Amino acid sequence: MDHVKFVEMKDGDKEDYDFLTEHEIEFTRGTADRLLKALVGLDEGLSGYKITRLGHSLQAATRAYRDGADIDWIVSTLLHDIGDIFAPYNHDEYAASILRPFVREQCTWVVEKHGDFQIIYYGEHVGADPNKRDMYKDHQYFDDCATFCARWDQNSFNPDYETLDIDFFAPMVREVFARTPYDPNVVQPGVQVALQNPTAAEHRAL
Ligand SMILES: [Fe+2]
Ligand SMILES: [Fe+2]
Repeated sequence: MDHVKFVEMKDGDKEDYDFLTEHEIEFTRGTADRLLKALVGLDEGLSGYKITRLGHSLQAATRAYRDGADIDWIVSTLLHDIGDIFAPYNHDEYAASILRPFVREQCTWVVEKHGDFQIIYYGEHVGADPNKRDMYKDHQYFDDCATFCARWDQNSFNPDYETLDIDFFAPMVREVFARTPYDPNVVQPGVQVALQNPTAAEHRAL
């Protein structure tokens, strides 16, 4: 059997769906590498900045790493702009959807909302409300998103910063996307982990 027997889903039998489930599992194993490839594809996107989108993503992840952040933060930061390829008007939500099954809820929320928080840095120049983030002011993760933008995102457009390359982060991406999707021990609703960990940061200094 190399493909299913049906042409309409309603006509499939157990053999067909067992076959598809197996294929799906095999395909899912490649998610991390497909994402890494897509990230490299970001290199071609969005010109005008002093560095490419890939360069920005790597720089943001490098800053997270050097701040002593944990693996959920680092991988989420690396992928936070991956939506730029297909979803320029809601790139944050797109990235959050990719991450949601595999990282802590806190990180997904921050990635999902980072666009609304980033506006504080440029809203006045483009006729947008710089304080758009205020709509989340009572949210548990408000400060985390503000810190994410301040320390890792808005400042990661510097061509002179010493950025780690994608091979450094690839094993972390593979580890995160090999997790059991939606595992409560991974998603950890309500659990808050600081973005900065000075002890870890000390060992990761340049
Ligand atoms: Fe972004
Ligand atoms: Fe960004």
